[in-house]
Amino acid sequence: MLSAQQFSQNDLFGLFELADRIRKIARTEDGLDFLRSILSHKRAVLYFAQPSTRTYLSFNNACQILGIQTSDMRSAGYSSEVKGESLEDTLETMHSYTDMIIMRHVEENLAEKAAWMFNNSDKPIPVVNAGSGPHEHPTQALLDAYTLCRAYKGRLKNKTIAVIGDLRRGRAVRSLIYLLGNFEGIKFLFLSPEELKIPEDIRAFLYKNRIEFEESESLEKYVKRADVFYYTRIQDEYDKQHESKTINYSRLYLKAEYLPQMKENAIILHPLPRRKEIPPEVDKDQRAWYWKQEVNGLWMRAALIAHIFKEDGYILNYK
Ligand code: NCD
Repeated sequence: MLSAQQFSQNDLFGLFELADRIRKIARTEDGLDFLRSILSHKRAVLYFAQPSTRTYLSFNNACQILGIQTSDMRSAGYSSEVKGESLEDTLETMHSYTDMIIMRHVEENLAEKAAWMFNNSDKPIPVVNAGSGPHEHPTQALLDAYTLCRAYKGRLKNKTIAVIGDLRRGRAVRSLIYLLGNFEGIKFLFLSPEELKIPEDIRAFLYKNRIEFEESESLEKYVKRADVFYYTRIQDEYDKQHESKTINYSRLYLKAEYLPQMKENAIILHPLPRRKEIPPEVDKDQRAWYWKQEVNGLWMRAALIAHIFKEDGYILNYK
């Protein structure tokens, strides 16, 4: 599971249904016992060489819900990479011990490389990309789309999605665009400071797939128009020379005074962590969906893992 471009609309609705089903089954003790029995013969390594709170915790807990035992490599500083081991040898070692690798790494193509290596071995095991540098974050896009599906009761056509913040380096943004491209009549409003506009490859994807979009540096004129406000923080860990310090993002922040102007059924999303782009007083507005979005990540990741191990049918048949 390497890129958000892997999914068709059918795949997505299948995963949304599976995630809904798993969260329902998990409401009872018998249900939890059933879920825990499904993959209790499997082990997973969580290799997170970049910081993570939600993605790490939700994957770890999703594994536990399905009975998978996990081990961690959470920092390159604790791995033999510091002793001069190559990344390939590190991957080879993890591969020896486990049935699945969930990985986050600054190197864009490492998950692909791992998948290629394992597919050419005598023990092909699944690789899940949990964030590849500034490039992709496909499971974030899955949980974002799942959240939209829950908010709009499955009706995802003709939505206007404002994507706000660091559109140049936000991996969640790229994956979201790939994934939402599956839905008819989606229109994007890209709002960012000039320095952080969507990069050429995303622009090419949008043109090729005839997805409508507008770009602007100002939020005011779009407040009434957007159905979804997808906020992101500035990804300054990818700065070369602290250049983000001079970028003025504050004029795109969500101000509480905008709330009365926004559509009544609009929703506000954020992959989190947030900084100042959404003030905490917005949290109590019923259109603030980011904390629900984070919870959806757990169930979506459980669904994805169950799907990877082809347990969909078994779960959907549970009475
Ligand atoms: C995002 C990420 O790591 O790309 N966070 C997450 O996984 N929930 C967004 C971010 O770090 O800004």
